[in-house]
Amino acid sequence: MIDLKQVLGEVEKAKTLKDLEDLKSVYLGKKGKISEIMQSIKDASVDEKKKIGKYINEIKEKLNNAILSKKEIIETETFFESMKNEKLDLTLPVNFNAMIGKNHPISKVYKEVYDILHKFSFEFVSGPEIETDFFNFSALNIHEFHPARQMHDTFYLKNSDMLLRTHTSPVQVRSMLQRHAPLKVFTCGTVYRNDYDATHTPMFNQIEILYIDKNVTFANMKWFCMEFCKAFFERDDIKIRLRPSYFPFTEPSAELDIAYRKADDGQYIIGEGDDWLEIVGCGMVHPNVLKSGGVNPDEYQGFAFGFGVERLTSLKYGIPDLRGYFDYDVKWGDC
Ligand code: PHE
Repeated sequence: MIDLKQVLGEVEKAKTLKDLEDLKSVYLGKKGKISEIMQSIKDASVDEKKKIGKYINEIKEKLNNAILSKKEIIETETFFESMKNEKLDLTLPVNFNAMIGKNHPISKVYKEVYDILHKFSFEFVSGPEIETDFFNFSALNIHEFHPARQMHDTFYLKNSDMLLRTHTSPVQVRSMLQRHAPLKVFTCGTVYRNDYDATHTPMFNQIEILYIDKNVTFANMKWFCMEFCKAFFERDDIKIRLRPSYFPFTEPSAELDIAYRKADDGQYIIGEGDDWLEIVGCGMVHPNVLKSGGVNPDEYQGFAFGFGVERLTSLKYGIPDLRGYFDYDVKWGDC
């Protein structure tokens, strides 16, 4: 038979992983003592087999547990022993290059745009993602039967006049009401539209800029468009154009296009060439929108400028399919 106390004592005395392995094979191995006992009771009665089997199983379990915890102790001691001569300074700061996570390209572009806008002394304002019909549409000169409401593919909340905002423009009116003119603000955040393919996702990000003062003109807006694109795409010779367009909340309205060309290796070069990509919607704030925000249109005027963050990120960092933005792959969009 086996003296459990004595065996556990031997485990306790083990100094190396090898000692433990040896003990394991002496007792628990194929030709070990426990196997021997099992062999020897081959011919015993069923009752005896049951009794001895139960006893053996208990011993096996206790021995196994003792070996496992001793193994952990030996491994920890060995680790600290091996570190004794290492020059390890636990007070050193973390090596940030070794971090496994990284910024999502959208967060990176947010940061870049924030930095640019702060240099132009725009202040950040925020607005809700669950909006009222009033701020999302009516206050922006999009009345109940306006066809633009259809174009927005809105997600409405059941049994309420609330909706998921389809753009960041409602923040224009909210900030006019809260801060009053003159005003130089920007906002950003997610917006929602019922649309899904390679270039549209039901949730996406927008950034919106609003500048209201006594003598703000279309020329100021044009200058800002140029300076913003130069800073964002990091080239001074950037080629852009303003193309007449229509938004109910700006008059006149324009679409800002950026030039591009396809290089011989198939890469798109942004900022030069003879083809155009639409990147920003902008225009002079409509008098009705100023009125919704409690601003007197005879006294003040201003421009608004809004764009999709995914689109600008895709252009700057060459990411063709918007759906990748939601896949959470750290290797993807390495920029
Ligand atoms: N809100 C518009 C859109 O989502 C963009 C825009 C913002 C246009 C500001 C003009 C002025 O398409």
